[in-house]
Amino acid sequence: MKPLVIVTRKLPEAIENQMKQLFRVELNPDDHLFSQEELISAVRRADILVPTVTDKIDAEVISEAGNNFRMFANFGVGVDHIDLKAAQEKRITVTNTPGVLTEDTADIAITLMLSIMRRTNEGERVLRAGNWEKWSPTGMLGTRLRGKKLGIIGMGRIGQAVAERAKSFGLEIHYHNRSQLDTRTEKTYKATYWQSLDQMIIQMDVISLNCPSTPDTYKIMSRRRIGLMQKHAYLINTARGDVVDENALIEVLEEGVIAGAGLDVYENEPNVDERLTSLENVVVIPHMGSATEEARHAMGEKVVVNIKTLVDGHSPRDRVLYGF
Ligand code: DGY
Repeated sequence: MKPLVIVTRKLPEAIENQMKQLFRVELNPDDHLFSQEELISAVRRADILVPTVTDKIDAEVISEAGNNFRMFANFGVGVDHIDLKAAQEKRITVTNTPGVLTEDTADIAITLMLSIMRRTNEGERVLRAGNWEKWSPTGMLGTRLRGKKLGIIGMGRIGQAVAERAKSFGLEIHYHNRSQLDTRTEKTYKATYWQSLDQMIIQMDVISLNCPSTPDTYKIMSRRRIGLMQKHAYLINTARGDVVDENALIEVLEEGVIAGAGLDVYENEPNVDERLTSLENVVVIPHMGSATEEARHAMGEKVVVNIKTLVDGHSPRDRVLYGF
């Protein structure tokens, strides 16, 4: 008997077709968000659930998993929405989709950097509103990227892809990470390691958050640390909303304590604090880091391979937790 795979969101068509061939599958054609009741019903009935960042797989949901339930094959790299401790206690395997959204997420970090520092979104708003009167020697002046110091928090795959791009824009690369990179990799990006995050923040013109959301990185950009940023500095977040104290960030942006922010992620997605959307010195986009045809397809393929590998009795390559 083929395993029952329940998918919580609408996936690319080709991926859904592959799944239909390989497994018994319940899809979500209208792409509605699963309620907690639906998640519970799914883990009671399924062998495998394919959730996304929009599903809160907490201890209560996990405690309801049926005897057949074996795996959360997450569509996405971040697994902060899954209670890993509760999954481990129930010996449930958890997989994710690393590596295939690195480049696209780094592109979005650079997009945000460019648009906030060069004020392109602001300029577009002016033009679309019919308020562009004339070219002006002193109008819409932004900040040059070349020569500025970029401090990357989290120098994993995505952090390094941001460094690679930023280096070609002429930014000086600095980073803070749990562990220092090997000398060869540091040389590739001409990157300077800072053991002290505080010391790095004080010196930087731009901070880019590229770390996963874990208990250790929860509000790593705390009110105190945001306060260490220079008045002309910018904050870019393509990681997760909860790695920044969002309320503190909004306050410093309102008061002009820092120059601006480029944000792809928020604390209470999809709800975005209205103060953020009304500020001129912020670029806000709706969690689009991995939103390319190519990335979403490759993520789906990883999900399929991860499931098939487990079903065939092996340990999936992208395991975050292996339950057997
Ligand atoms: C990821 O893969 O973690 C993206 O943020 C979408 O969930």
